[in-house]
Amino acid sequence: MPSNGRVAIITGAGSGIGRSSTLHLLKDGYSVALAGRRKEALEETITLAGNDGTGSIAVSTDVGDPESIANLFEQTVEAFGRLDVLFNNAGIGAPRTNMEDLPLEDWQRVVDVNLTGSFVCAQHAIRIMKDQTPMGGRIINNGSISAHTPRPDSVAYTSTKHAVTGLTKSISLDGRKYDIACSQVDVGNASTPMTQRMSGGVPQANGETRIEPTFNVDHVGETVLYISNLPLDTNLQFVTIMATKMPFVGRG
Ligand SMILES: NC(=O)c1ccc[n+]([C@@H]2O[C@H](COP(=O)([O-])OP(=O)(O)OC[C@H]3O[C@@H](n4cnc5c(N)ncnc54)[C@H](OP(=O)(O)O)[C@@H]3O)[C@@H](O)[C@H]2O)c1
Repeated sequence: MPSNGRVAIITGAGSGIGRSSTLHLLKDGYSVALAGRRKEALEETITLAGNDGTGSIAVSTDVGDPESIANLFEQTVEAFGRLDVLFNNAGIGAPRTNMEDLPLEDWQRVVDVNLTGSFVCAQHAIRIMKDQTPMGGRIINNGSISAHTPRPDSVAYTSTKHAVTGLTKSISLDGRKYDIACSQVDVGNASTPMTQRMSGGVPQANGETRIEPTFNVDHVGETVLYISNLPLDTNLQFVTIMATKMPFVGRG
């Protein structure tokens, strides 16, 4: 696919939703900077794109480390000269435990990655997008069904995903003056390494354990591409994409 002249950064690009989104954007002609801690996983995504790495760079990045994030954005601008789309996708949960027993360091790590990491990436993106010609760009945050309602024993993940909604709204408002649009994709049970446990059964609010349905992650990648290609005067503010029969609507 020839370059479409547009540049994206995708965090967590070495697996799951980030990988699928990267493959969709590369296929559409985007240049993509792939970020994640495991460089070999990022390189595997590039290999799957089957285009000899043209239009892509793999930048080993820990979004829990502000210096590592700064390096990602420097390398992206050095390689491609601008930034049109940031997909804040990298995310983790804490080990499942009673809220009162969750070690503070586990809480802090989830906050650092899911919330502070997305915020610091957005700061870098805004600085680049407001100064480039043409001005502007798009930031897409990966929320979750957990941005709406918790699973049992998931306080760190749920709290940070609710906070991501606040980040999305603030970027949407503060970004207007720079032609920066911000969307949030709330995913429910896309089939990825994070949701492998669904097939073995996961705890429900009523104390039962239940196997939950999943759906093909490529539908999320298609959604991210769709949002990325909207003109900047149009925004898909929030979208929920989920397994049709997962327990959410109807409280079960
Ligand atoms: N799958 C779903 O149904 C679902 C539902 C709701 C929300 N989500 C959200 O979707 C996002 C992606 O999850 P996924 O389902 O695709 O699972 P996944 O395959 O586990 O993806 C998580 C990605 O984040 C990266 N990551 C984790 N910590 C990082 C760090 N400190 N710095 C940089 N990258 C880091 C991981 O790469 P490295 O290990 O190489 O760093 C990995 O590629 C997450 O934000 C998750 O909360 C997914």
